[in-house]
Amino acid sequence: MRLEGVTKRFGATTAADQVTLEVEPGEFFSLLGPSGCGKTTLLRLVAGFETPDAGQVWIGGTEVTDRAPQARPTAMVFQSYALFPTMTVEENVAYGLRVRRVASGARTERVRAALARVGMEALMDRPVTQLSGGQQQRVALARALAVEPDVLLFDEPLSNLDVALREQTRRELKVLQHELGTTSLYVTHDQQEALALSDRLAVMQAGRIMQVGTPQDLYRRPESAFVARFLGGSNLIEDPATMDRIIGDEAAPEGKVLVVRPEHLRPSPDGRIQGTLRSHQFLGTHAEWWVETATTSLRAFVGPDEVPSATVRLDATQWRWVDRE
Ligand SMILES: Nc1ncnc2c1ncn2[C@@H]1O[C@H](COP(=O)(O)OP(=O)(O)OP(=O)(O)O)[C@@H](O)[C@H]1O
Ligand SMILES: [Mg+2]
Repeated sequence: MRLEGVTKRFGATTAADQVTLEVEPGEFFSLLGPSGCGKTTLLRLVAGFETPDAGQVWIGGTEVTDRAPQARPTAMVFQSYALFPTMTVEENVAYGLRVRRVASGARTERVRAALARVGMEALMDRPVTQLSGGQQQRVALARALAVEPDVLLFDEPLSNLDVALREQTRRELKVLQHELGTTSLYVTHDQQEALALSDRLAVMQAGRIMQVGTPQDLYRRPESAFVARFLGGSNLIEDPATMDRIIGDEAAPEGKVLVVRPEHLRPSPDGRIQGTLRSHQFLGTHAEWWVETATTSLRAFVGPDEVPSATVRLDATQWRWVDRE
């Protein structure tokens, strides 16, 4: 799947701004970014629900930019599931095949196989209005799988599930995608989800791709302040006093900001950064401290048993320079 210089405008908003992106066969690729950055728009451009103002969409070596959705080898799972409320589970899953004029014998086979994949075979005859949210999500997934698409498109499919079910479904989705080997483009604003599921991901801001890489790449080697903050909630340090306490005599590179991950700030009796503990929260695996120095406010993840005191001293164990913008 390849986007080549794709731009999409809605009035004064540029929802996709010259996006070039390639997803490898079989890859699980996520688009991650804040609300309104253009994630859904990119998915819809791939699915054919939108046509770009400029640029091209390619799937498997064929240009599909101007093709109707049903003439593309894609299937989408929507955030709202978008099931047809007057239809049963089976009818919903069969819908995409009917649109694509698959003969009824083959249709029945594929519907059963897709429902079996998601463990919903037993509820085939139920009206979808009589399903739980998690079950509806499975039907929506089965409906996409039944089409046997070359590219699966997911728009925040887990965001309506409660935390426990979301994590369970996330694991199942990863196993399923691995078994099927279907190229997948997955939209989310949840960084944990993107890190957990993706082979590679892109972080987006205001219609643009800011950085592309593996989860490890993006987490460990963010190139910009935006990516560092969006993935992992880094501390961005711009004031010279705090910077000196971290880097010592090293000179600050032009146009760069210092980034320190919360997990790389460690309390130490003779720590070089001194501040006031504004708040501390015990979170089980670790504690979160907000420390205010004379010039900046820092977030630190410390050991869960670390004893809080009014004044604290910290050392940075790792840091990194990133682009200011
Ligand atoms: N049909 C439309 N008409 C006008 N503006 C639109 C339309 N679709 C999207 N936009 C605008 O384009 C921008 C990108 O929207 P998009 O839905 O792609 O964002 P998103 O990243 O999916 O956000 P969210 O995380 O909230 O779903 C937003 O500013 C949005 O208001
Ligand atoms: Mg969206």
